[in-house]
Order: sequence, then structure tokens, then C-alpha cells
Amino acid sequence: MKSPYNKILPSLRLVEMPSYAFGQLDATKEKLLAEGKEIIDLSLGSPDRETDPRVLQALTDGMAKPRNQKYPIFSGLPAFKQKCADHFKKRFGVDIDPETGILPLNGSKEGIAHIAFAYMQEGLLTIIPSPYYPVHMRGTVLAGGHVHELELKPENNFVADLDTIPEDILLRARMMILSHPNNPTGSVVDKAYLEKAVALCKDYNILLINDLAYADIWFDENKPHSILEIRGASDIAIEFHTFSKVYNMAGMRLGYAVGNTDIISTLYKLKTNIDYGVCMGIQEAGIAAIDLGDEYREEVRLEYQNRRDFVYQALCDMGIKVTKPGGAMYFWMPIPKSYIDQNKTSFDFAADLLAETGVSLVPGLTFGKFGEDYVRIALVQPMDKLKIAMERLAAFLSKASTRTH
Ligand SMILES: Cc1ncc(COP(=O)(O)O)c(C=O)c1O
Repeated sequence: MKSPYNKILPSLRLVEMPSYAFGQLDATKEKLLAEGKEIIDLSLGSPDRETDPRVLQALTDGMAKPRNQKYPIFSGLPAFKQKCADHFKKRFGVDIDPETGILPLNGSKEGIAHIAFAYMQEGLLTIIPSPYYPVHMRGTVLAGGHVHELELKPENNFVADLDTIPEDILLRARMMILSHPNNPTGSVVDKAYLEKAVALCKDYNILLINDLAYADIWFDENKPHSILEIRGASDIAIEFHTFSKVYNMAGMRLGYAVGNTDIISTLYKLKTNIDYGVCMGIQEAGIAAIDLGDEYREEVRLEYQNRRDFVYQALCDMGIKVTKPGGAMYFWMPIPKSYIDQNKTSFDFAADLLAETGVSLVPGLTFGKFGEDYVRIALVQPMDKLKIAMERLAAFLSKASTRTH
């Protein structure tokens, strides 16, 4: 044997990356299903509603066109980019050149990972609020950089304090990622906060990434702003949008990047080395999705707001201290003290809850070290299912508080 190893090894960066934890409770789920038990899945942020038939029709029609059956246009379908730019102008009041300022993506997660490969290198940092949506960390680390985590604390409404980032960190930072309405905490920020982030990133020449996956899922008065509404942001910022959430199209994999034209073209250059762009039939479905209009988006938003209101009341009735989310589709729930006292983790809590009640949540550690004492509840079931889930959670928690092992 010439090699000292007895198998083909993956890269060290990948080996050291924790496995994507959403899958870790799958075996328990399968066992429960095999036993005929009902699972209420509030784990993955995959919307429960079906894609609108008008969007599905556009996809079918789109795929029937011979041109769309060939490799796509690398830089995106002009009609799709025009539609995104028009929508952007209407929604945020910002003019975007559809040709140079927009790049379609195979879902925004793909773009967020790839932008790190376009800009990161050994010795450089990405500043991320933490807990984080996993790819905010994983993209940078897989691309050879490091992350500097800004802890999101309940006393700050889960918003990062930008004033306390050390100078040496700012000097080594190539990118900063913000994402509000936030996954997993549901926190929101105002325009003044975005202004501060833009000023800071301009001062230190940091690429500012705004992941606006929940642009249309916001509650009460917390309608999100685009980073591109901020004066000067187009010098340093790029924003990611998705069709997965408000349009219930997670399965189609469609998103887009919008913003600074140099950054867009750098991301495009990277992607031409890796993929062939986005399926054009899916981009046609995206046009139909935007055409569903404000009424559709508002209906979806209000459905999540109703779910948020119901779950908030239910958790308060259980005596759990949770921050009321201002947007997105999640509750960030502290695990019971009895678990922490016994040195048990968020994984233990989620595993016990699943095994005993069939309610599936995501352990907070999935979102980084500051998630250790939390679980995430995704509002991705209709109200009747959420009601049963909350009843089961209440019964489980009252048992957990009296349990000694
Ligand atoms: C903050 C955030 N960004 C991006 C994504 C990924 O969206 P997409 O389906 O477009 O890849 C998600 C999905 O949950 C998310 O929560």
C-alpha cells in the first residue's frame, strides 16, 4: 500500500465542518412514522403551503419551450431580471439596472455560499451575527476564511451591537452579513441600523451582504427596508432575495442577488466556473410569482402573523419567556432550566420532545454556539396542527419541569 491512509479522505475543511444538523433527528422521525405516530414537523423553514397553480402553469409552459430545454443564458433571463428590477422599484423605491445589477440564483443559499468563494481567503474574516443561518458561517469557512461572531442577546432584542466590534477585526474583515427579519431569532432592525452598518462597512472597505430572505414576511409595523435604500450602500453592498418563502417555491430553487454591479459581476464570474445559471423555465415561474401581486404576498404574510400571534400567546401561557418575533417565521425558544441544570443540550431537548410527542424542532446548536440553550420553532404548519403541537409541548414541559433525570 503506497498511501498511509486506507481510504480517500475529504478535505479537512469539510471534515471539520459539523454535519448539517437538520438531518440529525431524521432517524427518530422515521422510527415514529414506522410506529404509525403522527409527527408535527416544525423544524425546517420549508413553507407548508403549495406553490400557486398559476406559478406551476408558468413552469410547465416555460419548460415546453425548446429554448428553455437547453443550457440557460448564464447571466439570467432578461425578462426575469426586468421583472425583479420593476418589483424592486415598486417595493423599495430603488432603481436597479436589470442587466448589470441583478443575478438569478439557484436559491439564495447557493449565492450566499458562493460569494464567500468569490471574496474570501486565508487570514480574512466575515463578521456575522450569531446565532446564524448556517450558510452565513459555512460559506466563509469552506472558502478558507474565518468568521467573527457578534452574539445576539435577548437583552438587545437579538440585534448585534455594531459599536463594539474591535478595530483589528474590522481591519481584517472582507465581508459582513446582516439578515433581518432574522433566522433563527425573528429579530428586526430599522433603517437607522442599516445606515450605521453601511457607514461602518464603507469606512473599512467591507463588502456588506444583506440576506433579505424574509423581505415579505414581517409583522406589525416592521416592514423591512432594502439595504440598497441606504445612501452609499450601492458602493459596497449586495442583497439576496428568495422565492422560497413568500411564494412557497422552496422546491424550485430560485433567488437573486441585487446590488453593486462589480460585486454582482464578480459573483457571476465565480458562478460561470461552477454552474450554468438558473433553469429558464423556473425563471419564467418566478415572473408569474411576482405577478401574483401584493394581494397574494399580503395574504401569506398575514397567515404567518396569525400563526405568530397564536404561538406567542401559547408560549406565554406556558410561562416561557420568548421574544416576540418581528418577522420571518420562527420562535427562538429557551430550553427548560431543568435541562441546563443537568448539563443537557438543545439536541437532548429536541430529541426528547420528538420521541415523546412527535413535535419536531431544530436544536439551537445548529445555528452556532450561542444557540446552545435554545430550540427553533418554525411556523410551517397550519393553525390546527400548531394548536396540537402547542398542547403537546405544554404537556411535555410540565413533565420536564418536575422530572429529575
Ligand atoms: C436567512 C435565510 N437566508 C436564505 C435562506 C435560503 O433560501 P433559498 O431557499 O433561497 O436558498 C433561508 C432559508 O431558510 C434563510 O432562512
